[in-house]
Amino acid sequence: MALEFSAAARKRFAEILSRYPKKEAALLPVLYLGQEEFGYLSGEAIEYVAKIMEIPTARVYSVVTFYTMLNMKPVGRHHIQVCRTLPCALCGAERITAFIKANLGIDVGQTTSDGKYTLSEVECLASCGTGPMMQINDDYYESLTEEKVAEILRALK
Ligand code: FES
Repeated sequence: MALEFSAAARKRFAEILSRYPKKEAALLPVLYLGQEEFGYLSGEAIEYVAKIMEIPTARVYSVVTFYTMLNMKPVGRHHIQVCRTLPCALCGAERITAFIKANLGIDVGQTTSDGKYTLSEVECLASCGTGPMMQINDDYYESLTEEKVAEILRALK
């Protein structure tokens, strides 16, 4: 069966569209809705969004591949996204990423074999004053140290 939104997602889609003067302007929130609905944005999901948004598929692809918060592959239950942009990098983001890699035994872009954790590096999450920082699913964790990260990972288990 072809991929399509559930009745609840269709309702939210209509609500999102009603907030924008032009349909195309709603692309990002609709992609977020698609990610929530389908788990990640597969090629099929991208084609579906392009169809309902009446936008060429290539343009939707260009948006999905530009934003690191849009996932084209399945992610683990806890999606750890470490900011790698300059302000966080200057505060030790690389050290934090290395610590997580060693702790979980995965590289950036990988998911643990039990499907619990995915590690990603992302661009600025607008919390530059409290770097290094990371986002796990929808939550921010700021002013990170290795000790703090160890505690956060322990609490997630
Ligand atoms: S540079 Fe990391 S949140 Fe802005």
